[in-house]
Amino acid sequence: MSDLLHDPTPTPLALLLMGKGADPASERGVECPGDLPAASDPGLVERARAARAALAERVFILGHHYQRDEVIEFADVTGDSFKLAQQAAAHPDAEFIVFCGVHFMAESADILTSPNQQVILPDLAAGCSMADMADIAQVEDCWDVLTEAGIADVTIPITYMNSTAAIKAFTGRHGGSVCTSSNAQRSLEWAFARGEKVLFMPDQHLGRNTAVLDLGLSLDDCVVFNPLKPGGGLSADELRAAKVILWRGHCSVHGRFTADEVDEVRVRVPGVNVIVHPECTNEVVVKADFVGSTEAIITTISAAEPGTAWAVGTELNLVKRLAKANPDKTVVYLDRTVCFCSTMNRIDLPHLVWVLESLVADKVVNRIEVDADTKHWAKVALDRMLALPGAAATRD
Ligand code: 13P
Ligand code: SF4
Repeated sequence: MSDLLHDPTPTPLALLLMGKGADPASERGVECPGDLPAASDPGLVERARAARAALAERVFILGHHYQRDEVIEFADVTGDSFKLAQQAAAHPDAEFIVFCGVHFMAESADILTSPNQQVILPDLAAGCSMADMADIAQVEDCWDVLTEAGIADVTIPITYMNSTAAIKAFTGRHGGSVCTSSNAQRSLEWAFARGEKVLFMPDQHLGRNTAVLDLGLSLDDCVVFNPLKPGGGLSADELRAAKVILWRGHCSVHGRFTADEVDEVRVRVPGVNVIVHPECTNEVVVKADFVGSTEAIITTISAAEPGTAWAVGTELNLVKRLAKANPDKTVVYLDRTVCFCSTMNRIDLPHLVWVLESLVADKVVNRIEVDADTKHWAKVALDRMLALPGAAATRD
């Protein structure tokens, strides 16, 4: 592995990012209620294996690409948020779905699985700072603003997977769809076939990058709705003139990458290919060579010629694994400093062992359950996404 991937000296912030301590600002922001095994217990791997074997077909473990290695080792399937949603829906026989990812993903799994299946999130503090940037009351207020401007009936809401079940349900009720980074282009095309405008929540960067780079709209076709300002900080005329109304939200991990870092890595690693996630800012994405979801990033680098060099703009756990899995290529991290997703990292081996051993003892802990009405309408929006043709594509 290249030394360009070394970890910097741990700081209190880095320790928090690594999942030690509580982050009161996180989506859930709670400590785990259970008696966790000590992280120093040398028998943790054996305990996880034993519990996994005892549960056999009763449990199916999903692991998002940003999870720690110690957790990924126990995943029955790994994937991006789109693939994991499909996989949750495709395993109706598993009594328990243990979702090693974040809260909104576990909610989506609960929505897509049958009532006799139970979805478990090993640490309830594994939220998402982007999902936190939109709550349902704000979204309803926004819709009132669009109604007053006379555009709600020609606007199709699209919500990124990274949003609460309540916002997915709102989207389903108002004729819209969910999207992920694998299918944002197809979702926006689907929406523009049904309305004149799109309200895109909550990631302004994914919405802008897709509208401008994939649909050929201009930056001026997009406006940013700030839920913290009256009327979103926009006049009725600005809203009427816009084609895409972007919610003012972003990912705290991908929002860190800068256009300067792209320039710097091209000097540092001659001939490097820069590949980034579409949650990065438009300035970064336009300077990159490739952009794609986590699954598309993995596929592109795995299929690349030996000897090629890659600078990757996404979460560090995934970049480290990519470097390890591609020893014939140079894989470096685009950021200058540590950039783990603090909430993804909350799921660790002690939490996984705790939930699996609890299940072996017939105790369901940390169940994620969406109420029936929210579930119904959120499923409408999720099913619209799952019915879109095709899967991930990488833009060149
Ligand atoms: P994907 O899994 O869709 O690539 O999204 C990345 C992410 O930030 C998940 O929270
Ligand atoms: Fe949320 Fe960003 Fe972490 Fe994904 S990487 S879970 S969008 S904070």
